[in-house]
Amino acid sequence: MASISDESKTDIKDGINQGMEVFIRRLQTEDIDQVVEIEREAFSPLWISTPFKRELNNQYACYLVACPDGETAQEARSESKPAMRRPLWDRLARGIDGLMGRSPELETATESVAGYVSVWFQGSEAHITEIAVRENLRGRGIGELLLIGSVRSAVKYGSNVMTLEARVSNFIAQRLYEKYGFKNVGTRKGYYSDNREDAVIMTTCPIDTEEYGRIFQGLQDNYTKRWGEIQINDSRSETGR
Ligand SMILES: CC(C)(COP(=O)(O)OP(=O)(O)OC[C@H]1O[C@@H](n2cnc3c(N)ncnc32)[C@H](O)[C@@H]1OP(=O)(O)O)[C@@H](O)C(=O)NCCC(=O)NCCS
Repeated sequence: MASISDESKTDIKDGINQGMEVFIRRLQTEDIDQVVEIEREAFSPLWISTPFKRELNNQYACYLVACPDGETAQEARSESKPAMRRPLWDRLARGIDGLMGRSPELETATESVAGYVSVWFQGSEAHITEIAVRENLRGRGIGELLLIGSVRSAVKYGSNVMTLEARVSNFIAQRLYEKYGFKNVGTRKGYYSDNREDAVIMTTCPIDTEEYGRIFQGLQDNYTKRWGEIQINDSRSETGR
């Protein structure tokens, strides 16, 4: 699991995850409220909720979530209180933590979903439609782990290339994609309806080649050195959720 030793819990810039362990698995029904919350936070004002419940049965798509700390996630999922009430509880808990001088980021780390990615398989292409990480957990390798999970699932599905659109102003996302071999191949004029911003179209070279396999392996090795073991289970659960 991606985890960081106790000695270095204070410095996020040097690759410190504040003791968080993160793993990737398929989206499940219980995650949906949290994923909608992350989606709204990341994509407002253009936010239109994805019908995640319906999408769970889509054989031509893969929805992955990043979960910090497996045990805590398990506890959160088995809580008896309705998931819809959790954000209010979290807000109250974070307010109390603020008063007591504790880090709200650590509090958020006890939530069970830190981010998600959705990939649609269209012909030979795997299209990343959304990727997002909770705002206060960004910069800790979670987005990269989600991207690794989506590349792995595309390779497993038999896709030849991966593609996506990003706002021209979204340099952070573009840097992440470039790191994994996505290149700017064109523009969609006025693609985003809130401010008529253009989208850059980014596409990988063929991912089903030995060459990309080697590059991808090198990137994953670097990730492991920096953040800890990569733990991804992209199989559908037995209940088919
Ligand atoms: C894009 C996003 C998913 C990245 O997630 P993250 O967990 O913060 O990213 P990571 O910590 O894994 O960083 C991975 C890479 O992203 C890029 N990156 C991340 N934060 C960055 C920053 N502040 N400045 C520049 N590049 C950055 C870097 O290439 C980084 O690799 P490096 O650390 O080797 O330089 C996150 O910023 C997010 O949720 N944004 C809002 C939603 C969004 O814009 N989604 C993309 C739509 S196209």
